[in-house]
Amino acid sequence: MPTQSKYAAITGWGEALPPAVLTNDDLSTFLDTSDEWITQRTGMKERRVSHVSAIEMATIASSRALACAGLDAADLDLIIYGGCSNEETVPNSASGVQIALGATRAASMDLNTACTSFLYGLSTATSMIQSGVVRNAVVIGVELISRYMDWSNRNVAVLFGDGAAAVVLQASVTESGVVGTVLGCDAESRQSLRVRGMGTGYTGHNVTFGDMLWDFDGQVIFKRAVLGMSGAAERVMREHGVTAADIDLVVPHQANLRIIEAVAKHAAVPMERVMVTVHKYGNMSAATVPVSLVDALTEGRVKPGSLLLMPAFGGGLTFCALLVRWGERTTPLGESSMTFPPATQSALEMVNTIRAGQDPHGRSQAGLLAPVFAETRRETAERRHAT
Ligand code: ACO
Repeated sequence: MPTQSKYAAITGWGEALPPAVLTNDDLSTFLDTSDEWITQRTGMKERRVSHVSAIEMATIASSRALACAGLDAADLDLIIYGGCSNEETVPNSASGVQIALGATRAASMDLNTACTSFLYGLSTATSMIQSGVVRNAVVIGVELISRYMDWSNRNVAVLFGDGAAAVVLQASVTESGVVGTVLGCDAESRQSLRVRGMGTGYTGHNVTFGDMLWDFDGQVIFKRAVLGMSGAAERVMREHGVTAADIDLVVPHQANLRIIEAVAKHAAVPMERVMVTVHKYGNMSAATVPVSLVDALTEGRVKPGSLLLMPAFGGGLTFCALLVRWGERTTPLGESSMTFPPATQSALEMVNTIRAGQDPHGRSQAGLLAPVFAETRRETAERRHAT
């Protein structure tokens, strides 16, 4: 019989932020945009561009989280790789992290709900520990968006960054870890956030593999994100008898400073108790919440016994809000020696190299905008009109 544990404590945490920084002024060198526009509309000032793979970033973050927990990779039962930046679909990415860590006993799975992937993974791993299926798990949030961004599209190219972070979960009898969960999906709005070119739907339509077209309706996403995150936060607090005064820190998804402020206002939590990293890293999709959590710990903003609220939204449009009770320890037990190799190019040089390999006005027009995809484009336009 598996041993069931009431809680899955977060005993380790680590982040892997690529060193190369892309500023708003860098973006203005090849896009019709400005530092003023990006800062005013999003709160973003800079973001990171990775010179290593997503699996390498995820491995560095996991190794740091394991050292922080004082846990051997060989003692891991489960690795969840949360995100939508996969080098390949088969084999999965989690198995790449597993072999790099030497986690020989672990089960490994990828989980993709885009920006909510880390929190969906945290919820999944917590339930698997509570049911006794596993005892020790690593949950990763990771994205390498720079490699498949459409760098010719200013509507989206200014919004994102690369990065990774991971936490270690361990079975525990004392109250800690995820203590409340609301998960949901506003599937009616799924057409408003789409990256065309990723997936089997595009085979046989002359779409060149690796050629992407970002089809986002920013204003619909903005409204739905505020509704989804605020509604989930309100519900998880109500269901667990928690008021705004009980929340020590909100660690939200970081897609736009204005979205964060609207969600905080709705929850009646002052901005002094909200973790904001969007100015430093942009939107790292699945990596934003765990990176913000690790930064909060490093800055001493998480105290023993703190109650954290983590609301997020992502592709689908998935949404969620988790309540996390922190344990006693807020400092790492150890440090990993694993780190990034030196970068040989600046962030702007890397982006320009990726741009040189993209042909958005040739292949994408012919393939990704083919008549066969007109139906989903029509639904997007109707949704925009109706909202
Ligand atoms: N630089 C300069 N001008 C721009 C840029 C840019 N990078 N992008 C758009 N514009 C222009 C538009 O063309 C438009 O010009 P027009 O008035 O002449 O037509 C004008 O700026 C206003 O554009 P809006 O789209 O109305 O700007 P808005 O205030 O809605 O901000 C934004 C856009 C930042 C995308 C916002 O809608 C948003 O944050 N949406 C939600 C976040 C989002 O979609 N994130 C994607 C991640 S998804 C996720 O995290 C799960």
